[in-house]
Amino acid sequence: MTQLELQKVSKFFGGLAAISRLDLQVQQGEIIGLIGPNGAGKTTTFNVITGELRPNEGEVIFEGQDITGLRPHQVATLGIVRTYQLVTLFPGYTALKNVLVGLHLGARIGFAEAILNSRSHQRKELHLYRQAQEILNFFNLQAVADEPAENLPHGLQRKLGVAIALAARPKMLLLDEPLTGMNPNEVLEMIATIRRIRDRNGITVVVVEHNMRAVMALCERIVVINFGVRIAEGAPQDIQANKQVVEAYLGSDSHAA
Ligand SMILES: Nc1ncnc2c1ncn2[C@@H]1O[C@H](COP(=O)(O)OP(=O)(O)O)[C@@H](O)[C@H]1O
Ligand SMILES: [Mg+2]
Repeated sequence: MTQLELQKVSKFFGGLAAISRLDLQVQQGEIIGLIGPNGAGKTTTFNVITGELRPNEGEVIFEGQDITGLRPHQVATLGIVRTYQLVTLFPGYTALKNVLVGLHLGARIGFAEAILNSRSHQRKELHLYRQAQEILNFFNLQAVADEPAENLPHGLQRKLGVAIALAARPKMLLLDEPLTGMNPNEVLEMIATIRRIRDRNGITVVVVEHNMRAVMALCERIVVINFGVRIAEGAPQDIQANKQVVEAYLGSDSHAA
């Protein structure tokens, strides 16, 4: 089943078409890669899906509903949750508290209500606290539950970022370069974690990533864009052998390694 569809979506910045009449279909439960050289329009595509940018033309359809132009919190409420290219955590909060913030987003409890901590609220809080611990376990982060996020090594911070996104109970996760700055072991572990998120929770995953080898290992289907236009789509082995794709990467300053 097609869960998300972009129909001829364009986004202009002044005279520049960051994405141009872009068609994209994401199937429920798949792990799909969106790749392309630097400046190809990958992050813009995410911003248009999440409502952070309003497209100049085209439609974004999620589960049969036209979500074009909805505000980011409305899109998140419908079940599309993203992570950012740069780590975005509450640095002074512990890992556990960061996940609790994500859970509050998913539980749709006001942040004010959450920190007021009224008596009627405490039972719900205990439940969320247990859930936060479960999520940390899922990500193998239980040992650092009480560490402030800012003290964690970079790889664990990125993992925590995904944990927060998962805590919001998405139907679809958009991950913007989740492997950046990771060492090879961290990359392998993150790939396994993303697969488990999909396998155990049935969550659809859209990954933007520069690390080509990792994308090939992780994704079942790949869409390639260059200068905001889709140039290829297919299984990883087809994409690897696609001449246009190879040329797009060789012709840019980014690395296809
Ligand atoms: N807010 C913005 N204002 C102006 N230009 C932008 C903005 N965001 C992105 N761009 C431009 O749009 C193009 C696509 O950017 P982006 O989507 O970030 O690419 P990618 O994520 O594939 O590297 C680039 O040329 C970039 O400079
Ligand atoms: Mg980007």
